[in-house]
Amino acid sequence: MVMILLGIESSCDETAAAVVENGTTLHSSVVASSLALHARHGGVVPEIAARSHIEVILPVIQQALDNAHYTWEQIDAIAVTMGPGLEGSLLIGVMTARTLAIIHNKSLIGVNHVEAHVYANFISKSLFPGVTVSTKPPTFPLLAVIVSGGHTELVLFHSHGTHQVLGQTLDDAVGEAFDKVAKMLGLPYPGGPSVSEAAKHGNPRAFSLPKPQVSPYDFSFSGLKTAVLRLAQAQVGEEYDFPSIKLAERLSEAQKRNIAASFEHTAAEIIVSKAKKAFDAYHPKSVVLAGGVAANNELRRQLISTFDLPIAFTDPVLCTDNAAMVASLGYFQIADQQPLSDPFSLVVAPHLSL
Ligand code: KG4
Ligand code: ZN
Repeated sequence: MVMILLGIESSCDETAAAVVENGTTLHSSVVASSLALHARHGGVVPEIAARSHIEVILPVIQQALDNAHYTWEQIDAIAVTMGPGLEGSLLIGVMTARTLAIIHNKSLIGVNHVEAHVYANFISKSLFPGVTVSTKPPTFPLLAVIVSGGHTELVLFHSHGTHQVLGQTLDDAVGEAFDKVAKMLGLPYPGGPSVSEAAKHGNPRAFSLPKPQVSPYDFSFSGLKTAVLRLAQAQVGEEYDFPSIKLAERLSEAQKRNIAASFEHTAAEIIVSKAKKAFDAYHPKSVVLAGGVAANNELRRQLISTFDLPIAFTDPVLCTDNAAMVASLGYFQIADQQPLSDPFSLVVAPHLSL
C-alpha cells in the first residue's frame, strides 16, 4: 500500500516541510533557515527562531506540496518533530501540524528529531531534483553514528523502533565544538562548514591535539575545544588568560587553516575510533552517519578508510535539519503499528531523549 507523508520540522532554526512516499521516496524537501538572522549573534537566538518559524511555516508547507505536485487530498498522514529542541520553535511546528491534521482530517504522528536524523539514510530514491541519495537503504542491525549540533551518540538499532544507546557525549556535542572553534578562528557561523572549508587548505598534522579519556562509547569534546584555545593562544604568544575573541585578529591565515585542519582531523578520529570499537563489539550489518556533522568530508573519508563494509552517505542537505527525515521516521513508526498522536493533545517534548 502506498502511503504519502508530509513531514514538518521546526526544532531549531530551520523551518522545513517534505513529502515522502513509504518512508523511502523523496518527492520534495523545502528548508527555510533563519540562520542569517542569527549570524550576527554567533548562535541561535530562540526568540528570533520561533518568530521566524511563525512567518514561514505555512508557505514552506505549501511549497513542499507544490514541488511534489500533491494536494492535501493525496496526503495520508502528517509527521512532526515533537522534540528534542527549542521549546518555542517546537511549539510552532507541533501546533501547525495539529491544526492541519484537524482541518484536513489526517493522521498525525510525533517523532524524535535525533532518531529522525538516522532515518534520512532510509530515503533511497529521490524524485526531487538536486537531492542525491544512496540507492541502498541500511539493513538491521545498524550502528548509527549521530553527530549533530546538539547530539553525539552511538546507537544500535536492532529493528525499526528498537534501539539501544551505546554511548553519548558527556559535555559538548561535536557540532557545537566545530561552532566554537570557528568562533575562536573568526570564521563565520555556522562553524562546521566554515572550519571544514579552512581545513581544506591546512595541514591536519600541523598540531597534535588530545583525545578524551572517557568510557569506550562515550564522547567528550569540551577538552578538545579548550586544547584548541590553548594552542591558538600559544601560537600568538599569549598566556591562558588572553581572551578568545581577540585571537582571530592575531592569527595568520596559515595558522587558522592548520588549527582548523588539526581540529577537524582529531574530532573525526575520535568519532571514527569509537564507532569502530562499537562495530567490532556488536557486528552490525550496516553503519550510518547521521546529523549535521555527517556532511563533513573528512569524517566521511576516515569512516570509509576504517570500515571494511561499504558505507553509504546521503546528500548533505538531508544530513542537516530537514523534514524528509521526519516524514521517513513517521512512516516507519506507523508501518510498525506504533500509536498515532492525538491532534487535539500532542505536546512538545524539548528534552526528549532516545
Ligand atoms: O543536525 P543539525 O543540522 O542540527 C542539530 O540537530 O543540531 O546539525 C548542525 C550542526 C552545526 O553544529 C554545524 O556546524 C554542523 O552541524 N555542520 C557541520 C557541517 N555542516 C554542518 N560540521 C562539520 N562539517 C560540516 N560540513
Ligand atoms: Zn538536527
